[in-house]
Amino acid sequence: MYLLNITDNHGELDFKAALQLGNNPRAVRCSPDGSAVLVCNALDFNVVAFSLQDGRELGRVAVTKCPLDESLLLGKKLFYTALPPMTSRGWISCSSCHPDGDADGRTWQQPEGLRNTQPMNGLASTHPLHWSADRDEVHDFEHTIRGKLMQGRGLLQGTLPEALAEPIAGRSTALDALAAYTNSHSFTLSPYAKQGLTEAAKRGQLIFHSEKTGCATCHTGPLYSDSQPAPPDQLRLHNVGTGNDDPSELMGPRYDTPTLLGIYRSAPYLHHGHAATLHDVLTTANPKDQHGKTSQLTPSEINDLVEFLKALPFEQPEPAPADGQPDLVTPP
Ligand code: HEC
Ligand code: HEC
Repeated sequence: MYLLNITDNHGELDFKAALQLGNNPRAVRCSPDGSAVLVCNALDFNVVAFSLQDGRELGRVAVTKCPLDESLLLGKKLFYTALPPMTSRGWISCSSCHPDGDADGRTWQQPEGLRNTQPMNGLASTHPLHWSADRDEVHDFEHTIRGKLMQGRGLLQGTLPEALAEPIAGRSTALDALAAYTNSHSFTLSPYAKQGLTEAAKRGQLIFHSEKTGCATCHTGPLYSDSQPAPPDQLRLHNVGTGNDDPSELMGPRYDTPTLLGIYRSAPYLHHGHAATLHDVLTTANPKDQHGKTSQLTPSEINDLVEFLKALPFEQPEPAPADGQPDLVTPP
């Protein structure tokens, strides 16, 4: 962080000092008398005051105790930092695109095609990863760290195996910590289901589970997905007619079935983000009934189905996670 003066009406800047801040500085305030700047370092759990005269540190106070164990704290610091070894140019972090583990709502042009950012909720239970299921462990995001955008040195010593299927867990404490933190995000109960399912959502639930639409043939089980970890040639991928409208696509037209839990907060939809709303997923983005059969549904049945999708998750899925695993769903 730089302390600076604006020296004239043209906005010329006069840098006075560069301040070394702590981990995940999230909030900055000037003191009421203008003599100090206060910085909240969210992952040092403190507030540090600097003099506005000369940038000197004036003092620091602890704000709260750290609720995370050592590994999760290290992983969270790595997820939120734009400093080496995560990057080399200091301008992007994992949390830039996954703020607080959510999605940024953007679709990025990746080498393999357009890819809508995915949220981190329930990640421990939704492997394999990515729309195309090409990554089998969070440790593979070492490729993202070393990739063109982040250009980091990375967390693993030595060369990184090209083959994504080759396991790299257990080879670096820091990479294990990043994976543990990334995997620790749970779902929150849907705000659309605070009092349970509405009447419209209950009607939508029946439509979802009906043989006519066939939604539950792929969006099945507690996570509403048939996706399972498997060797690359045995992955269960589906062509739902979404892979033909992006000329830059190199991996389609078959994709991994995404979980539908938490879908109310992750618009836009589909791997390329071409559906702005859930309504669009079921209508304009499904012209040939390749993605479940929806063309026979009346407008009010479509609305009911959307109300059901928005209500997920409306309960803690059964069976409960094993001991030591994070809860899949936490109260909002
Ligand atoms: C430029 C934005 C951007 C940055 C930076 C970024 N991601 Fe992502 N992330 C994405 C996009 C886009 C996808 C979907 C890509 C795909 O499916 O091919 C994704 C997908 C993921 C997934 C898969 C989620 C799932 O449900 O399958 C994980 C895990 C993930 N990112 C972790 C990370 C970690 C860890 C970092 C930091 C090392 C990171 N991301 C940095 C944009 C980003
Ligand atoms: C043949 C398997 C299959 C069937 C049947 C199916 N889906 Fe899907 N669903 C998928 C796949 C695969 C994707 C990802 C497609 C993509 O990203 O291009 C997907 C994506 C979605 C998404 C967007 C998820 C996101 O995060 O963007 C929603 C919502 C959805 N499906 C709801 C439904 C509903 C409702 C039905 C029934 C009308 C249904 N699906 C039927 C496999 C299926």
